[in-house]
Amino acid sequence: MSMTEAISLDGQIALVTGASSGIGAATAQALAEAGADVLVNYHSDEEGAKATLAAIQAAGRRGIVARGDVSREDDVRRLFDLCEGELGEVDIVVSNAGIQIDRAFTDMELADWQKVIDINLTGAFLVAREAVRRFEEKGMRPELSRALGKIVFNSSVHERIPWAGRANYAASKGGVSLLMRSLAQEVGRRKIRVNSVAPGAIATAINEEEREEGAEEIRSLIPYGRIGEPEDIARVIAWLVSDAADYVHGHSLFADGGMALYPGFIDNG
Ligand code: BGC
Repeated sequence: MSMTEAISLDGQIALVTGASSGIGAATAQALAEAGADVLVNYHSDEEGAKATLAAIQAAGRRGIVARGDVSREDDVRRLFDLCEGELGEVDIVVSNAGIQIDRAFTDMELADWQKVIDINLTGAFLVAREAVRRFEEKGMRPELSRALGKIVFNSSVHERIPWAGRANYAASKGGVSLLMRSLAQEVGRRKIRVNSVAPGAIATAINEEEREEGAEEIRSLIPYGRIGEPEDIARVIAWLVSDAADYVHGHSLFADGGMALYPGFIDNG
């Protein structure tokens, strides 16, 4: 096999949460383009999920859409059951679903805190736990991949960069960072590969308002000089779950145009 052929995901089955828009939708499409069949999970945007499904089918792969709230244990179990029943046993899981509720610290209600932690952190835990359980039941498929299974969390530059007015979000992503690394440490010997991608400012619905109000200001925080597109992250995830990245384990891959490089120091602080 040539070294780059390993990027193919031919015949593998993937489950992507929050895949009705943005990074999740682009990722589902990228995985299909690389050869995987994909379960498209969504929470409320059924139309968006169907559009993602159409892109998967246009890439010549099978897919299904499945509603489900990642912060609910029974929903998560059902997603994996559906995937197994309709597509087959899962090889790749992308825990992508996430939200932001921005509030000044003293105005932050417990519900604003809880909801973000529930979806971004507890959801990531539930999805990853179910993934590991299912990988172990499935057993190795050496003709498809060198790993028993692959998990990628969609984290954020804010797993490292503090974020005023979004303590709930930054805390959830900081949590995802150590969830990922602890899990990677625990399951690596079982040939389960676990990583995160940490996107910077990507043009999706989550930051639409901020981009409309001040795209220039955001760009000034990005040494590479452009706001990212969902495809920038989708390509990274497709590579991370492929055998081309088989020796990458327990890593948070920052795909942020350099946002985490302390851009305030570009002109010497
Ligand atoms: C947030 C976006 C933000 C980006 C960079 C992401 O994790 O969801 O709203 O634009 O980080 O600050």
